[in-house]
Amino acid sequence: MKNKLNHIAIIMDGNGRWAKNKNLIRSKGHLAGMEKVREITTLIAKKNIPYLTLYAFSTENWKRPKQEVSFLMSLLRKYLKNEKKTYIDNNIKFNTIGDLSPFDKKTINAINELKNTTKENTGLTQSLALNYGSRDEITRAVNKIKDNIKEIKEEDITNALDSKTLPDVDVIIRSGGEKRLSNFLLWQSYYSEIFFINTLWPDISSLEIENIIEDFEKINRRFGEI
Ligand code: IPE
Ligand code: IPE
Ligand code: MG
Repeated sequence: MKNKLNHIAIIMDGNGRWAKNKNLIRSKGHLAGMEKVREITTLIAKKNIPYLTLYAFSTENWKRPKQEVSFLMSLLRKYLKNEKKTYIDNNIKFNTIGDLSPFDKKTINAINELKNTTKENTGLTQSLALNYGSRDEITRAVNKIKDNIKEIKEEDITNALDSKTLPDVDVIIRSGGEKRLSNFLLWQSYYSEIFFINTLWPDISSLEIENIIEDFEKINRRFGEI
């Protein structure tokens, strides 16, 4: 029996190095990376996988030069505005995880608008992780519930996370060659199959993702059993 793939999460790393290799400025790498977001999201939607979560901006990414941060923010707004048709045509529901409170009004409006436009869609739920850090998410979750519950159970934490409407992550893919999770979905990935690939995100191909999905389907997932 093939494993059912409900939720695939991707750490889209390597935009900067992709640009550097081509003697381009880092922002060109982010632009190329954005094109890949559309391609891979459409692929996952067509494969009828119900959940895709993409790491777009971490709680640590604010430490980058101001110029890069503001470029990423304007790129995000552009993406949210321009991609509406992709979401509608492919029946994709847009969602976010992460703390949106530090974002400016323009960005929050663009996020809410795409959420609203796509809220009745019934195909893929695509979540962008924006100002997302797993430790921050868990800390906020515990603070939400601490005064109302005598004894906190695992499911109380699960249900207080930003990801409360998403199932546990089956597959995590990290592009760009680093073998670390960088504060991404630490709770939700407790039994994930993890694929680290060397390809830089803007070079990723649909075939590469399809091969990972095929490999995942064949894994003997034991969840602690024998
Ligand atoms: C990932 O690419 C995108 C974001 C973190 C926003 P990077 O910008 O981290 O690319 P590298 O790792 O420097 O190549
Ligand atoms: C992880 O990439 C975050 C995103 C892809 C948004 P980073 O480039 O920020 O991670 P580190 O710093 O190499 O661990
Ligand atoms: Mg990086």
